[in-house]
Amino acid sequence: MLKGKNVLLGVTGGIAAYKSVELASRLRKAGASVHVIMTRGAQNFVTPLTFREITGNPVTTTMWGEVTNHNVEHIALANLADLVIVAPATANFIVKCAMGMADDMLTTTLLATKAPIFFAPAMNSNMYDNQLTQRNLDVLIENGWNFIPPESGHLACGVEGVGRMPEPADIVDFVRFTMAFAADMLGIKVLVTAAGTHEPIDPVRYIGNRSSGKMGYAIAEAAKKRGAEVILVSGPSALTPPEGVEFISVESAEEMREAVLERFSEADLIIKAAAVADYHVRDVADQKIKKNEDEITLVLKKNPDILKELGEKKRGGQILVGFAAETQNLLENAKAKLEKKNLDMIVANDVSRKDAGFNTDTNVVKLLYKNGTMEELPIMTKHKLADELLTKILHMKN
Ligand code: PMT
Repeated sequence: MLKGKNVLLGVTGGIAAYKSVELASRLRKAGASVHVIMTRGAQNFVTPLTFREITGNPVTTTMWGEVTNHNVEHIALANLADLVIVAPATANFIVKCAMGMADDMLTTTLLATKAPIFFAPAMNSNMYDNQLTQRNLDVLIENGWNFIPPESGHLACGVEGVGRMPEPADIVDFVRFTMAFAADMLGIKVLVTAAGTHEPIDPVRYIGNRSSGKMGYAIAEAAKKRGAEVILVSGPSALTPPEGVEFISVESAEEMREAVLERFSEADLIIKAAAVADYHVRDVADQKIKKNEDEITLVLKKNPDILKELGEKKRGGQILVGFAAETQNLLENAKAKLEKKNLDMIVANDVSRKDAGFNTDTNVVKLLYKNGTMEELPIMTKHKLADELLTKILHMKN
């Protein structure tokens, strides 16, 4: 996987920079040609000479020095790289990249490269947990960067917590594994639904739910990255659709039904992560309802169950995956939906948990399969879960 590849290793200024020497060595032993860019901070921990000796290549430390063997160096390295690994990635480096800054050789190169980027955050656990850092991490992940999660343990600053850079061997395995399935969905067409639907009451009001679209968008993005052709049908969401997917924006359950039914027959895999409203308002007012009355009554009518309809229409070879959002009797309710809607798999999330379900960055799910088996997954980010789900679905397919 790494043999003959040009790997750009970015090293930023954290104590874990010493581990990057071993990482460079492992990458070289795996057959890669390793080109190191060090930030100014990194050079306080390790010398460029160490990396030059380990990699056998010149080490870039500045944008302003004499150009040596790389012509217009940042563009040359950005173009040369087959993949980029930044390890360790400090909080300061992460925020600069999240803002699209290009104020040194590493940030400039990363902005210019089209190669896949991996980054391994490493820092004090409070810095890591800080909302600002988490938000910046999300920006990079949404931008398609591959996040190598930090480990828990004893940190150099003396505290115990999350923030330690994984061992170099694990980083190499992570990169190998990710690159290996980078194209394992080529030729597969995936239809994903995401976010909640809005059911109008009058021209300015609606009935909605708390679905943000994060789960469905993460699935669409992961499938696209793995080479699938992706159609994303989404209810209203503040998220930006992942690059390269065909995006269909809908509002109500009825609009979602129409869009999904129109594209259903061409899809090999359908994943319904959307939170579709079960009811709509029977008599939608033409004009804004005035608050003249102390009480008003809205009559709600049942919406069509889109997933059930798909289950009835499913052709041989198509895989149908649903989600179940439950606050009680998770397994019983999910199992009933799996059977009633003729699904191949259902992803059951206990949405009463704070770290799972609606509008969270993480999810905790149980997977129920058509053959009666069940698998429980640990808490993980929705991006990680998206990849896990796709891997499991592909195994089921083969
Ligand atoms: O968007 P996020 O903030 O990231 O939150 C993710 C999520 C919690 C919304 C997602 O993980 C999830 O659980 N989605 C399904 C929510 C839901 O509507 O569950 P349900 O148990 O009511 O429906 C079961 C399945 O039937 C779902 O796949 C749903 O898309 C589908 N359905 C439901 C009703 C309906 N009228 N038509 C449908 O197709």
